[in-house]
Amino acid sequence: METLELKNMQQAGTEQEVDFLPLNGTDYIELYVGNARQSALYFQTAFGFQPLAHAGLETGLRDRESYVLVQDKIRLVLTSPLVGGTAIGAHIDQHGDGVKVVALWVDDATYSYEETIRRGATSYMEPTTEEDEHGWVVRSGIGTYGDTVHLFVERKAYNGVFLPGYVKWEPTYQPEAVGLRYVDHMVGNVGWNEMNKWVQFYADVMGFRQLVSFDDKDISTDYTALMSKVMSNGNGRIKFPINEPAEGRKKSQVEEYLDFYGGSGIQHIAVATDNIIETVTELGQRGVEFLQVPAIYYDDLLDRVGNIDEEITELRKLGILVDRDEEGYLLQIFTKPIMPRPTLFFEIIQRKGAKSFGKGNFKALFEAIEREQLLRGTL
Ligand code: FE2
Repeated sequence: METLELKNMQQAGTEQEVDFLPLNGTDYIELYVGNARQSALYFQTAFGFQPLAHAGLETGLRDRESYVLVQDKIRLVLTSPLVGGTAIGAHIDQHGDGVKVVALWVDDATYSYEETIRRGATSYMEPTTEEDEHGWVVRSGIGTYGDTVHLFVERKAYNGVFLPGYVKWEPTYQPEAVGLRYVDHMVGNVGWNEMNKWVQFYADVMGFRQLVSFDDKDISTDYTALMSKVMSNGNGRIKFPINEPAEGRKKSQVEEYLDFYGGSGIQHIAVATDNIIETVTELGQRGVEFLQVPAIYYDDLLDRVGNIDEEITELRKLGILVDRDEEGYLLQIFTKPIMPRPTLFFEIIQRKGAKSFGKGNFKALFEAIEREQLLRGTL
């Protein structure tokens, strides 16, 4: 375990602080996309998400359409504008398809809003009650980095399919799930010298603690460099690593993201599986493309991580990475960006005791990203 993490945990144990923002988990992730209907088909087909709910013209909306997909505890909402001149359309023009909302499940959305606003958050949505025949939901929201927002969702008095205003979506086409279980962490890229500002935001405004810190020497290759700090909420269910670019010989991948996204935003969504070999095999067969590390990565793998349950040949075939910390090991793999701009991608992760984020893989991984940047002419 990182010394810093130990220190933080000890502090947490002695201070007996009351968590002023208890979070039950990630409620949903909403992406603003150019064509929600086709994106929904992509997440069904390629990632095995199941259709859950729909809202659009048929449900009385006039300016937008949303599809909601689910896989175990992961809920994605895909939203597109139906007319010109909307805030959603402006968001897509500025950022391309991307994550707008990271919604957090709380017991009291009004209290969550008041407490975070009192600590300096900017308001995105005042506490708002929505209801239908299935009950009521309260949502409120605050801004975070870039145009990204956090919504607090209180749904203890609701038993509908998703939220008031949504109807069940039941298409005949329903490919099988691929074993994705829950959101493990979500990483934000922020601008030059802004990492500590947003670390402070999550600490002061949301009561998060810093888990692990890296400096640019930890995460650098011959060309690219970045700095990263991981913020986690009181019960550890929500983990937000925050990256900023660092000076390297060539353009950092974080800088490339900032250029194409038009500012700070969500870089990747890490989703957990209980069997990464099965999940990644299935994803590959469905057309999901992964970053590939050089075969040499596997030559000294066992020297680096010790004994593992999986066959190295299987891992090599699929390009799955392994890293170990004091508590165990983890297996992970990263998709290529899933949209035209080199911005958002997914990580598939299986934890076998390890609580860290694959620091030992960063160098091999970044070299793989750089090969892609070179092809794009953006290195
Ligand atoms: Fe990650």
